Amino acid sequence: MPIVAPSLLAADFTRLGEEIEMINRSEADWLHVDVMDGVFVPNISFGEPVMKPLKKLCEKPFDVHLMIIDPDRYLEYFKDLGADILTVHYEACNHLHRTVAAIKELGMKAGVSLNPHTSVSLLEDILADVDLVLIMSVNPGFGGQKFIERTYEKVRKLREMANELNPNLIIEVDGGVNLENAPKLVNAGVDALVAGNSVFKAADPAAVISGLKRA
Ligand code: DX5
Ligand code: ZN
Repeated sequence: MPIVAPSLLAADFTRLGEEIEMINRSEADWLHVDVMDGVFVPNISFGEPVMKPLKKLCEKPFDVHLMIIDPDRYLEYFKDLGADILTVHYEACNHLHRTVAAIKELGMKAGVSLNPHTSVSLLEDILADVDLVLIMSVNPGFGGQKFIERTYEKVRKLREMANELNPNLIIEVDGGVNLENAPKLVNAGVDALVAGNSVFKAADPAAVISGLKRA
């Protein structure tokens, strides 16, 4: 069964408490938390004022996706805000090996995310050191975009690399994931599905989460 991580970005922010209660009662494994700085991506999301109270309510681990430049400055900050998994972008790090080591030293699982244009082959020399790779299946910055079909091929290639270099690697896909493409993604080798709009904009979000678990 895949890990399912609903993306908070698509939640109704006028009733966040209820949305988290729904996540707690659902079969969701993690809460995916998108942090955007308006520089690495053309959008600004949220930080401490949202994450701190939600950490008290949410019973699921925080899967934090940093879409920010210079993430090294904020690793401890996000640890203190309750990040269990901390994912940085390959494109935002000059010294990725050092960043990954620092995340792990802080006691979090370390993830690396790739934009759609970034080849999985660039991860060859870091793959053994990371816990998770997050393949973006849309250009980061916004929810509700169209899934990029090329993703399946990237997942298959990364799974092959991981079989050799890091069999425990968690492969996560983020962007435009829904009940239709989820089974194909799992088939290609995905372990964790992030889903924003397909979950939170549904009439019955918990039912969509259950459906994704059975993808
Ligand atoms: C996009 C974010 C995603 C987004 C996914 O930059 O990283 O996590 O919330 O939303 P959907 O599933 O609606 O594409
Ligand atoms: Zn994300």
